[in-house]
Amino acid sequence: MSQPTRIGVVTSGSLLEGLTARLDDHYDLEQLRVGQFVVVQGRQNRFFSMLTDVQLAATSPAILADPPGDDHPLLTEILAGRSTYGTFKITPQLMLPEDISLGLRPVKTIPAHFAPIYEASEDDFGLVFGAEDEGSFQMGRPLDMDVAVCLDLHRFVERSNGVFGKSGTGKSFLTRLLLCGVIKHKIASNLIFDMHSEYGWSGTTEDKSQEVKGLAQLFPGQVLIYSLDPESSRRRSAKFDGDITIGLDEIRVEDILLLQDALNLNATAAESAYICVERFGAAWISQLRAMDTDALKEFADSSGANIASISALRRKLAALDRLTFISRKATLSSINTMIDALLNGKSVVIEFGQYRDELAYMLVANILTRRIHELWVERTELFLASKRASDRPPQLMITIEEAHKFLNPTTARQTIFGIIARELRKYAVTLLVVDQRPSSIDNEVMSQLGSRITALLNDDKDIDAIFTGVSGSKGLKTVLAALDSRQQAMILGHAVPMPVVIRTRAYDAAFYKAMLAPGRGNSNGFAPALPISATQIQDDVDDLFPPD
Ligand SMILES: Nc1ncnc2c1ncn2[C@@H]1O[C@H](COP(=O)(O)OP(=O)(O)O)[C@@H](O)[C@H]1O
Ligand SMILES: [Mg+2]
Repeated sequence: MSQPTRIGVVTSGSLLEGLTARLDDHYDLEQLRVGQFVVVQGRQNRFFSMLTDVQLAATSPAILADPPGDDHPLLTEILAGRSTYGTFKITPQLMLPEDISLGLRPVKTIPAHFAPIYEASEDDFGLVFGAEDEGSFQMGRPLDMDVAVCLDLHRFVERSNGVFGKSGTGKSFLTRLLLCGVIKHKIASNLIFDMHSEYGWSGTTEDKSQEVKGLAQLFPGQVLIYSLDPESSRRRSAKFDGDITIGLDEIRVEDILLLQDALNLNATAAESAYICVERFGAAWISQLRAMDTDALKEFADSSGANIASISALRRKLAALDRLTFISRKATLSSINTMIDALLNGKSVVIEFGQYRDELAYMLVANILTRRIHELWVERTELFLASKRASDRPPQLMITIEEAHKFLNPTTARQTIFGIIARELRKYAVTLLVVDQRPSSIDNEVMSQLGSRITALLNDDKDIDAIFTGVSGSKGLKTVLAALDSRQQAMILGHAVPMPVVIRTRAYDAAFYKAMLAPGRGNSNGFAPALPISATQIQDDVDDLFPPD
């Protein structure tokens, strides 16, 4: 092993605020990178830390008041290191006691004065982020080294997670990577609401120069595509496995209220809608739409509804007519095959084709998710009663782009997505939310996210939102704001031992090859279930549903 390169020594700091260090004279200040992983060698512990800031300092303000000019390069050199020097800030994230067998632990103390700080070596990365193996997936490489940074996929799918970043920073690519990992390692079933047709069959890079393989191409037989607009899929010669229709009678008042903006509803719409439901039950929309002026008047008279607001609602619901995937009654066969696939550990991409607007996307995502969640709750309850491992539904991860539409502070309380985000992993369903405006997402939902994978964000509000519920995040904020605008991200949370900045793994020919290579487990669906003992199951149940 080569000698690690020393950067400097600790000079001050606290557990709460992080450490300040003085740069060694021989170390080039400009070589330091915010977000870099460094190691402090304490007397009894090694502290794995992140570099969060770089500063200039001088022993005396007088030198700064009278700086040497261009014609005195020698003077500048003499001052450097003695009177002028660099300092940097680091935040310790994990510590490793001398007795390595004790393993990595959370930081509970800090190193003493003048503890030396080194660049992290490949071994340090290996120790903290592991190598790619069963259940651990390489997301990228550190900023300045060629070693893998891996994510623990089992821990990842256990909670809801988020992928964030400004538009064009690589969110969809990061999401595709995560999905590939989860599918390749057979960790969970996935339901993906693919608003922009990027995930299922081939997409393109932003400049359209390069074809990007979709999940169904990388995992044939394991990923199915269901389309709401089969015509468009056919036109693009994109393969699909079925089309989906939604029945008018499946649309509930909550779904319509969620579409307040898209449908331009009045404040009175809710009341009118509930009056219709009271009279007509599930068929409320079709019955309301079928009424002529006289029928409407009679209905208003007999039900006490306001005629103006009920006719406005009727008129506005006409917007649903252009959605050809909505029919009076849904043909269930296709949705049932899709749900069976999910129950069997496969993944499903829902393609929207021409219906890329808010109205279609939210309606479909809400209705399908609600139905699937109901089924998962039912199955989990069955499992709780029987304690038979075979009754347990597989872990399901639901990916939604433009997540704030479902999870903003006003809607998060009503939508099924808000419920899933808040109920944690009880029913084995979690979310992967993808969004460019994390500040628009409800705080409570943000604080429940287990892992946050974030590309560049500029807006302070958005940066603050990423750290909702994360302590000691001050330094990390500067790191986030300093990411490159593309193919860099910070991973933070449950699925990594400590926050880390990566250069995102390239989604290229080498990656396709790695994904297409045979993996473990059987060829379809999940790896054969390990035999689970009754006590293990009971432990799991107690863990999820703690006895009062
Ligand atoms: N991991 C990656 N591998 C290859 N190209 C990438 C990767 N991440 C980002 N890119 C490039 O950046 C562009 C924007 O990424 P994209 O995921 O579409 O951004 P977003 O979803 O945040 O708007 C892509 O079209 C691609 O050219
Ligand atoms: Mg995108």
